[in-house]
Amino acid sequence: MKTQVCIIGGGPSGLMLSQLLHRKGIDTIVLERQSREYVLGRIRAGVLEHGFAALMREAQCGERMDREGEIHDGFIIAHDGKMDRVDLHKYSGGSSVVVYGQTELTRDLYEARDRMKGIVIHNAEDVQPHDLKSANPYVTYRSGDEVVRIDCDFVIGADGFHGVSRKSIPRDVLKEYEKVYPFGWLGVLSRTKPVSPELIYAKHERGFALCSLRSQVLSRYYIQVPLTDNVEDWSDDAFWAELKRRLPAEVAAQLITGASIEKSIAPLRSFVAEPMRYGNLFLAGDAAHIVPPTGARGLNSAASDIYYLYHAMVAHYKDGDSTGLDKYSEKALARVWKAQRFSWWMTTMLHTFPDSIAYDQKLQDTDLAYLFSSEKALGSLAENYVGLPF
Ligand code: APR
Ligand code: PHB
Repeated sequence: MKTQVCIIGGGPSGLMLSQLLHRKGIDTIVLERQSREYVLGRIRAGVLEHGFAALMREAQCGERMDREGEIHDGFIIAHDGKMDRVDLHKYSGGSSVVVYGQTELTRDLYEARDRMKGIVIHNAEDVQPHDLKSANPYVTYRSGDEVVRIDCDFVIGADGFHGVSRKSIPRDVLKEYEKVYPFGWLGVLSRTKPVSPELIYAKHERGFALCSLRSQVLSRYYIQVPLTDNVEDWSDDAFWAELKRRLPAEVAAQLITGASIEKSIAPLRSFVAEPMRYGNLFLAGDAAHIVPPTGARGLNSAASDIYYLYHAMVAHYKDGDSTGLDKYSEKALARVWKAQRFSWWMTTMLHTFPDSIAYDQKLQDTDLAYLFSSEKALGSLAENYVGLPF
């Protein structure tokens, strides 16, 4: 087979890039290790920054997001018995975020790819990029007993944290930065009315908690748990009881509980791989960087990678201008690190660290006290939460 851009990974990053390039007449093939059902069965976060929402519209997949997604102009931080609101709209100069499940967004991208007859190959096993330093790279994969070769101009590694692309960069070229947090998030999805129209991030000495939602009939809640906990050890009743303990009394009293329809524990990790380009391989999204979920930055740090790559590829193919491709890694990493900083800061401010000393706790309290006493500090939080410009 032959294509211009071979994209490894059919998650939101890979699908979005494929959709955008196809609309500009650039040919792509997406190789996905899993089945479509498997990809669409994964429950992921649900807050989109306005820049990502704009990309969805540009890719002509924003219709359902605009119809069913909720615009959120603010969120609450509960701490020390108080409920302080962050007015995103006011402090970011009129911006907001869209609450729309990433699973639904991925479904919309797949449907858009189908409509345009885009090629997405599922159950592609043993995907392997080759000759990345040459002008004629290629990718192989296995389908049953058959090994298929795809010749291309460029390979995009959009295959998430556990993908093969990053591992194809020689160890003496790649530098990895990683921070693992000493806790995870236990998440529950339930078909119940959300306890609050806006998200509530709750700091509590027993551990952090988050009240989020997918719609007015679907709630998503999280509590911080030790890494040693197993999801089987948490009954629904135990989860709800612990969540209530960590929420302000007036919120806990309003909480509607129900059977969990999904329950899982995710570890918290910060990770960046540099550079994001090796020869004709370009990394994008979770393949190159991971953030802890506290700042809702996961998909949003992928958004700028896709935006830069999209424009760089169009300039290359349409105008013969490769500056965007040459500058991709440096430009993408500059924004990636800002999302890293913000996610680390939100995580550090709001969680209970098992090894923290009294001094650290005083600083956490002071961080919150300063935040809600300074419009400039709120402005900084708001501009990061709605998304820094691309
Ligand atoms: N070959 C082909 N596909 C692969 C391989 C491989 N070797 N390894 C992984 N994949 C696929 C995965 O099955 C997955 O569908 O690549 C896809 C990567 O998708 P994501 O992990 O969703 O990553 P990305 O598209 O960059 O999306 C970033 O997802 O994890 C969240 O918080 C993150 O919101 C962010 C978003
Ligand atoms: C979610 O709804 O899953 C969610 C929302 C906000 C976050 C993290 C996760 O910061």
